[in-house]
Amino acid sequence: MSKGSILITGASSGLGAEMARQFADLGYDLGLCARRTDRLEALKAEITTKHPDLRVQLKALDVNDDAAVFAVFKELAAEFGELDRVVINAGLGKGAPLGTGRYDANKATAMTNFVAALAQTEAAMEIFRAQGKGHLVMVSSISALRGMRKTITTYAATKAGVAALAEGLLNEGVDRKGIDVTILYPGYIRSEMNEKVAQRTRFMVDTETGVRAMVKAVEARKEKAYVPAWPWVPIGFALKHAPMSVVRKLF
Ligand SMILES: NC(=O)c1ccc[n+]([C@@H]2O[C@H](COP(=O)([O-])OP(=O)(O)OC[C@H]3O[C@@H](n4cnc5c(N)ncnc54)[C@H](OP(=O)(O)O)[C@@H]3O)[C@@H](O)[C@H]2O)c1
Repeated sequence: MSKGSILITGASSGLGAEMARQFADLGYDLGLCARRTDRLEALKAEITTKHPDLRVQLKALDVNDDAAVFAVFKELAAEFGELDRVVINAGLGKGAPLGTGRYDANKATAMTNFVAALAQTEAAMEIFRAQGKGHLVMVSSISALRGMRKTITTYAATKAGVAALAEGLLNEGVDRKGIDVTILYPGYIRSEMNEKVAQRTRFMVDTETGVRAMVKAVEARKEKAYVPAWPWVPIGFALKHAPMSVVRKLF
C-alpha cells in the first residue's frame, strides 16, 4: 500500500529526480513536475520498473506560469485524492554581480526561485488548508544564511526569501492546523546546476548522498535542516553568527 502522495517540482534532474527515486523507495506515490517531460518519462519508467505498485503522475510545468502552477497542483491533488507532501524544489542558478549589466540573469533567478516559489507555496497551502493536513518542504540553500558575493548575490537572496516564507508559516503555527513545514538548507550537492556554474567544489557530495540527507530530514519532519549535516551544520552556525569581518574573509 502507498505511504502517501508527494508532489515534487523540478523533478527532471538533480536533487528533484533523486528525491523522487528515494521517496519511491520509501513507498510514496509521486506527482512529478518540470518542463523537460522526456526526462520525466525516463524517470517514471525507471521508478515504475523498480516499484510497479506505485503511481507516478507526470505534469509538464513551467513554474513561472502562475495559472499553470495552481492548475497542476489542483489536478494532482484530485488525481491522488489528496496531497500529503509538496516539495518546492524547482530552481535556477544563473547570476552575475549586481551592476554588471546582467539584470536579465538575476531577474530570471529571482522570478523562478522566489516569485514562482511563492506561487507554489500559495497553491500548496490552499490545498493543505482545505485538507486540514499536509507537509510543505521548501528547498532553500546554505547560501540563504548570509548575503553572498558576486555571482550568487541574487541567488542567495532568493533562497533567504523562500526560507522566510516557510518560516512565516512555522511562525503562524500552521502545525496546529495539521500542516508541517520543513526548510532544507543544502550545501554543495552534485547536480546539473553546479555542472554549469563555476563554483567551489570543496565539500561537494554526490547526488545520492546529499539527497539521502535531505530525505531523512524530511521524513523526520524537521522544521529546519542543514544538509548533509557534516560539514554544513558547523558552517551554517558560523555563517549565521560570525561578524561581517569574519564572513568577508571566509565566504
Ligand atoms: N545542488 C546544490 O548544491 C544545491 C544547493 C542548495 C540548493 N539547491 C537547490 O536545489 C534545487 C534543485 O536544484 P538542482 O541542484 O537539483 O539543479 P538542477 O539539476 O539544475 O535541477 C533544477 C530543476 O529545476 C527545474 N526548473 C528550473 N526552472 C524551472 C521552471 N521555470 N519551471 C519548472 N521547473 C524548472 C528543472 O526542470 P526543467 O528544466 O526540466 O523545467 C530541474 O528539474 C534548486 O532550488 C536549487 O537552488 C541546490
